[in-house]
Amino acid sequence: MVNVGVIGCGYWGPKHVRNFHELEEAQLTMVCDLDEDRLERVKTQYPYVETALNPKDLLRGNVDAVVIATPVGTHYQLAKKALLHDKHVLIEKPVSTSSREVLDLIELADKRNLIVMVGHTYEYHPAVDFLRELVQSGELGDIYNIDASRLNLGLFRPDANVLWDLAPHDICIVLSLLDDEPIEVSARGSHHIDPHLCDVAYIELLFASGTMCNVHVSWLHPRKIRELTIVGSKKMAVYDDVSEAEKIHIYDKGLAVAASTNNNGFATWPPNYHYGDVVIPFITNAEPLKLECSHFIQSIVEGIKPRSDGLAGLRVTSILEAANRSLLNGGEREKLTPTRTIAEASKATIS
Ligand SMILES: NC(=O)c1ccc[n+]([C@@H]2O[C@H](COP(=O)([O-])OP(=O)(O)OC[C@H]3O[C@@H](n4cnc5c(N)ncnc54)[C@H](O)[C@@H]3O)[C@@H](O)[C@H]2O)c1
Repeated sequence: MVNVGVIGCGYWGPKHVRNFHELEEAQLTMVCDLDEDRLERVKTQYPYVETALNPKDLLRGNVDAVVIATPVGTHYQLAKKALLHDKHVLIEKPVSTSSREVLDLIELADKRNLIVMVGHTYEYHPAVDFLRELVQSGELGDIYNIDASRLNLGLFRPDANVLWDLAPHDICIVLSLLDDEPIEVSARGSHHIDPHLCDVAYIELLFASGTMCNVHVSWLHPRKIRELTIVGSKKMAVYDDVSEAEKIHIYDKGLAVAASTNNNGFATWPPNYHYGDVVIPFITNAEPLKLECSHFIQSIVEGIKPRSDGLAGLRVTSILEAANRSLLNGGEREKLTPTRTIAEASKATIS
């Protein structure tokens, strides 16, 4: 039985609290927040749980593993302290806005033989699992491009711009689908409410395979949209995370590419459009966060690297660091160093 403590009980932390309360292989023992009212609410719902206003008290308490669900600016210090107290850590996304800090945590965890896992919830989403298999099996053909949109009115955050808040989800979905890292990134965005925080942004990722990916994130949109379109040479797929029952549509649509080319080297004209069936696969409705929490416990018990390990966190942070530099440079393309090279240079153990 792994004893779990949760630090941060605002919007997302209580979902961890509920899941660890429900998991049979874990025991939720402590919850910490700076806000007494939030702890009172936890006490009412889970009277057996100990509460603490100071993270130090939680780290000295009866916990083997700590979930950090506080604002991003606090993640590094809290995670470092937890590792120094020999606790395994599950850090909410993004781990940090500095890849140096993510590397520090990876190295520290390696030295102390502890698990660092990142809260990339979509990595555990059954719909993303399904899409990954679809892409990796080659059913969609070569992937030409991926377009992702994550839009809504708010929730504004005071400490991180919309890129750091929303784009980690789509970036980790895309990396997981393609099983690849981009070689270049650029971003443009604007701020309308807080002059220091960009609230609408468009990120472009380029992969060595030629696949292009666009991620549109916004806190200023009239509708809640969580949509990702994959355009392949054979088929196309649309993933609508807002839809309850029809999250994925697979379109047997595309261009039948001509085998021969004309004198100018172009494919014959006009192109041959192909229109086939639209398939809506059944996707199990298991809660992704529950699967993530369970995987964290399993990684601790079996001593295995989690699917969303520290390196997965480093991948997302280094892409977003470069995207933020591009944002400040008027959208200039930034070259990316492969995460493996960054990690090897820092002597972090990777496998
Ligand atoms: N994986 C997901 O799908 C997902 C979804 C939403 C949020 N998140 C992430 O979860 C984290 C928290 O987001 P949120 O929306 O719950 O934020 P929030 O502002 O609603 O809650 C943060 C809580 O942390 C507490 N806190 C702040 N500093 C603390 C400290 N030093 N010690 C103890 N408690 C402290 C605050 O009092 C607050 O209750 C962020 O990293 C966010 O990106 C992840």
